[in-house]
Amino acid sequence: MSDDNLWYEGIPFPRVFYSPEILRKAREEFVMKDEDVVTVTFPKSGTHWLMEILCLIHSKGDPKWVQSVPIWDRSPWIETDPGFELANKKEGPRLLTSHLPIHLFPKSFFSSKAKVIYVIRNPKDVIVSGYFYWSSVNFAKKPKSVKQFLECFLEGNVPFGSWFDHVRGWVSMRERENFLMLSYEELKRDTEKTVEKICQFLGKKVEPEELSLILKNSSFQAMRENKMSNFSVVDDAYLVHKNPLLRKGMTGDWKNYFTVAQAEAFDKVFQEKMADLPRELFPWE
Ligand code: A3P
Repeated sequence: MSDDNLWYEGIPFPRVFYSPEILRKAREEFVMKDEDVVTVTFPKSGTHWLMEILCLIHSKGDPKWVQSVPIWDRSPWIETDPGFELANKKEGPRLLTSHLPIHLFPKSFFSSKAKVIYVIRNPKDVIVSGYFYWSSVNFAKKPKSVKQFLECFLEGNVPFGSWFDHVRGWVSMRERENFLMLSYEELKRDTEKTVEKICQFLGKKVEPEELSLILKNSSFQAMRENKMSNFSVVDDAYLVHKNPLLRKGMTGDWKNYFTVAQAEAFDKVFQEKMADLPRELFPWE
């Protein structure tokens, strides 16, 4: 299904916004600064949610910035054609974003004190969210069905490649001081506690009233209504449906789409590929 994707180093990328030249420059030439904070995810794991939370922590809950500047300009994607330049031009402490697997991530990060927050999500929900998202945008080949997308996902033949490899690569960073791993599930279960955890990792103190504003302005409803975060600023030519990003925002939606046999087949592959990693890294049913 990736015929319309761009292949780089054996990994499919959406053809629009990505090019071999910028992917190479992101890895080799991007200069990470110690005060940078980078959101890293496999797509559909809650990237935009964390980006919005980080922006609101930065503005102490004041929604002016998140309501006036597109989310991709506030926290540019290092490896995209528009994001690379934008990130380079930013001054002061930068919020950045990336979907890159660790082996393609900027080399300069590994000798810097920049902070990465990696969000992981139940891969079955990533599949359902991904199926709807890639069906709704015109940047990459559209999946034909959840079944077909699931098969491609298991082969690593979806944008950004193998979820298993992506997670394995980044999880290997979990003992580092400048790395925080979060799950979409914990963000959903206790957003307040998770935002506090993020603030602690960033060394930021937020007052109770600021915390309430951060939670209010990064809620699913607030983001859905925020034109700067809900895809309203994306050119209509790229969209099949309006607002493909903030779809349902729930955990366990996979149960509405997977057959019992599909869920069992997925669990078998998950077990084969991830059994050696601690189960507590994967906090979902
Ligand atoms: P669903 O498609 O399951 O609804 P990403 O930002 O990595 O592309 O992930 C998109 C997923 O995160 C979508 O999942 C979207 O609804 C969900 N999401 C985005 N903002 C959210 C929020 N504030 N609260 C809960 N889920 C959110």
